[in-house]
Amino acid sequence: MSEQSEKDRWNERYAGDDYLFGTSPNAFLAAQRHLLVPGQTALAIADGEGRNGVWLAEQGLRVTAVDVSPIALDKARRLAEHKDVDLTSIQADLATWDWQESSFDVVAAIFIQFANPNLREAIFRGIRRTLVPGGLLLLQGYRPEQIQYGTGGPPHAENMYTAAMLREAFSDFEIVSLAEHDSIIQEGTGHHGMSALVDLVARKPS
Ligand SMILES: C[S@@+](CC[C@H](N)C(=O)[O-])C[C@H]1O[C@@H](n2cnc3c(N)ncnc32)[C@H](O)[C@@H]1O
Repeated sequence: MSEQSEKDRWNERYAGDDYLFGTSPNAFLAAQRHLLVPGQTALAIADGEGRNGVWLAEQGLRVTAVDVSPIALDKARRLAEHKDVDLTSIQADLATWDWQESSFDVVAAIFIQFANPNLREAIFRGIRRTLVPGGLLLLQGYRPEQIQYGTGGPPHAENMYTAAMLREAFSDFEIVSLAEHDSIIQEGTGHHGMSALVDLVARKPS
């Protein structure tokens, strides 16, 4: 999908006053709080309306949020103001994003399954590049079984992850935890109900 059509599609989804995925952080991300250190740099990729980037900033991290949708990023800035935290936001297409080498202590990749296998490979390469040695990847996504649940995510099985796929994609990382599970999530109107999930916490080698 071209940047323009992807941007338009997401701008339309984000056009209302409400927050499509809510304003509370993703539960998996929030559960990793003990691994975060105030003052660290964090990149929240495809951060949408900012619920996760703002939460990371509330933990004392210096957060850059990147997303293709300018409407989402406006709402993320409003959420950051409301919570009285700083958030650097960048409107960009991750397909052409210039991943700066060794720049972030933490990368949060929460539901970035707009990416088809080719783009996913490029994004994963970018994550490996942009994390500092010893940096932390926090990723949650859907598994192919999610298509049957229909409670969120795109209807494209090839965009989904399995634990085996993530283990292989980050085989050079230390896997801190990797779990497949079916759980009920409630994240605004965008993600709601029983969901087929996979969670990854991994560290780039030092
Ligand atoms: C399912 S939403 C998840 C948003 C956020 N991570 C969250 O969990 O609340 C997917 C996000 O990917 C963004 N997106 C889609 N295609 C993109 C691209 N090519 N580059 C950057 N962001 C993109 C959309 O604008 C949207 O905000």
